[in-house]
Amino acid sequence: MARNQVAPIVHGTQWLSPVERKWRHLPNGGVRFRVNLLRLCFFSLTPMTDILTHRENGVTTVTFNRLDKKNSITAAMYAALADALDAAASDAATRVLVFQGHETVFSAGNDIADFLNNPPAEQDAPVFRFLRALAGFPKPIVAAVCGPAVGIGTTMLFHCDLVYAGDNAAFSMPFVNLGLCPEAASSLLTTQMMGYHRAAEALLLGEPFMAEAALEVGLVNRVVPPSEANALAQQVAARLAAKPLSSLIETKRLMKQGQAATVLAQMNTEAASFGRMLREPAAREAFGAFMAKRKPDFSAL
Ligand code: COA
Repeated sequence: MARNQVAPIVHGTQWLSPVERKWRHLPNGGVRFRVNLLRLCFFSLTPMTDILTHRENGVTTVTFNRLDKKNSITAAMYAALADALDAAASDAATRVLVFQGHETVFSAGNDIADFLNNPPAEQDAPVFRFLRALAGFPKPIVAAVCGPAVGIGTTMLFHCDLVYAGDNAAFSMPFVNLGLCPEAASSLLTTQMMGYHRAAEALLLGEPFMAEAALEVGLVNRVVPPSEANALAQQVAARLAAKPLSSLIETKRLMKQGQAATVLAQMNTEAASFGRMLREPAAREAFGAFMAKRKPDFSAL
């Protein structure tokens, strides 16, 4: 495939998750399978172009491509991301994975309308499936981040190995402002990375921080002009792809193994709280206010 040409993920028969495929074998699997068939038909007619994947020279690049909604992420996009990670992990021709957005925006985080109408509850919801696939991804991950990186747009970076930021990058984890709590083990990893008091600014006050501050705390490796960030991530990915994959995988595993189980446990605990809080009045007020383009009123909550 030519450079810069991107192949949309079309789920086709691969759309059903492994869990859903297992359901077919449950006693009531017939009913569930019919429901899944309906979903399969719907999604087959709806090509997933909001997430693009492209593999070249050992590097699989995953691009957020929903610019009209600032690359906010829907459940269908999380499913596509999780599938892309699973595929890249087992694909012998993929040695490195790159995440990128646009030079004006990385991601506005979870799609708030989607959360309002279809809040994830179970641990196998696409968002949590994506986070587990990301945290457990065995090969190196490089990210290029420009513009806003909100919520999961920031927290997913804790699970990337090398991060390059445009000087317009603005990181934020406004979970409290949305009546929610942190996800992606960020309640643990933010504190470890920044120290408790700076983490409190980021997580309790929900204050954004810019690229230079992210460089200072070690969330990003380098800050460059926005027009150069994606290209720099590709250059670094190419350098990694030229190294022995077995050494990369083993080194990453050793670097992560000290707290891999703790991170997973924190992620699962957060997911249970997050799923509950999505349905509570504070989040409903925050989401309703965002949709109505007004300030939320938490005075009674
Ligand atoms: N979910 C759903 N839609 C979103 C969205 C989100 N997280 N973020 C942006 N959008 C939509 C806006 O509603 C708007 O849609 P419209 O054109 O139909 O009105 C469009 O994307 C453009 O957003 P806008 O706010 O006008 O862009 P901006 O450049 O002024 O600001 C952001 C960009 C990212 C700073 C701002 O959109 C924002 O704060 N978004 C919410 C982030 C958030 O709270 N995410 C949840 C984290 S858990």
